[in-house]
Amino acid sequence: EKSGYEHYMLKEIHEQPTALRQTLSGRIDELNGEVDLDIDLPKEYLNSLEEVTFVACGTSYHAGLYAAQLVESLADVRASAEIASEYEFDGGRDPWRTLVVPVTQSGETADTLSALRRAKRAGARSLAVTNTLGSTVTREADETVFIRAGPEIGVAATKTFVSQVATLALLSVAFARARGELSTTDAIEFLGHVRQLPGAVQKVLDEEAAFKEAATEYADGEAFFFIGRKLGYPVALEGALKLKEIAYVHAEGFAAGELKHGPLALVTPKSPVLAVLTQGSSPEATLNNVKEVESRGAPVLGCTSLRDAEKFLDVTFDMPELGALSPLIANVCFQLFAYHVAKLKGRSIDKPRNLAKSVTVE
Ligand code: M6R
Repeated sequence: EKSGYEHYMLKEIHEQPTALRQTLSGRIDELNGEVDLDIDLPKEYLNSLEEVTFVACGTSYHAGLYAAQLVESLADVRASAEIASEYEFDGGRDPWRTLVVPVTQSGETADTLSALRRAKRAGARSLAVTNTLGSTVTREADETVFIRAGPEIGVAATKTFVSQVATLALLSVAFARARGELSTTDAIEFLGHVRQLPGAVQKVLDEEAAFKEAATEYADGEAFFFIGRKLGYPVALEGALKLKEIAYVHAEGFAAGELKHGPLALVTPKSPVLAVLTQGSSPEATLNNVKEVESRGAPVLGCTSLRDAEKFLDVTFDMPELGALSPLIANVCFQLFAYHVAKLKGRSIDKPRNLAKSVTVE
């Protein structure tokens, strides 16, 4: 069933264009700049919203961080992502004007379900985003949107991350249109990018040899740092999570501007730095941070389409650009890098030690 791939993770990485097509199928009206997610949230309710809160764990939390930025910029409503196990419904939130969005591939993550229950007890409305039909979250949330990525067997979330972010991007457009915050022209442009996502991801997948080569050259790094700004920040966190989870190496994601506030002390020639330098991630500003780590001797691997960035990079991963979705494409580079590092180290890629696909205890 691995269709010739050595691991489910690699198969699922390569399934991302297909997963995305399934996610998007029938949901986009590009002519009119509209989205149909078949949810029953009245326009008046969306108009009166003051806050959208994504609650999730692990990779799904990173998808929530990405989505929060999209919702704020497109729909002009305050949005944030909260780690489900830390979440409390407090801080003066108005339950009638707060939409809580649990994001969970499995729909069974105990921490996420209990965050949802706390929000519901406080009276908030909820909309689940999940991959799993009939899962607990679908029974407990008021509304559900399925990401339709297909089954994911590898413990490391890959295709479900990209499908979650794509679904949440559509949700952001739906909110923005209902609130009158996004013009038809701007919606058409954004949805055009969403539509091009499967093809852009495929372009990165076609370059797998480059990631394998980079992994071979840098696999013996003592630690790996991922940096990004704006939409590149959740991707930096996700890149690091994937590497630690399957390769068992120390990896951390940082908001690029935070480096000089401490983490720079960790940077040495033995700590490769992976940078998101795409549209949607303030690449020029991050380039300054690339220079900071480069001058400390760290090898830098960058995902970029900026020609002037190349001279500061040891390895350039050439990126197709899709505006606010570009960092999401950079994530595919990090998945392939992590996979090949883990493979070189002989790790148990589909079932990493100490981890479970679905975490049903708090
Ligand atoms: O099923 P969920 O999306 O709720 O799972 C959340 C996390 O447990 C999950 O994303 C975990 O971090 C992955 N193993 C990361 O690859």
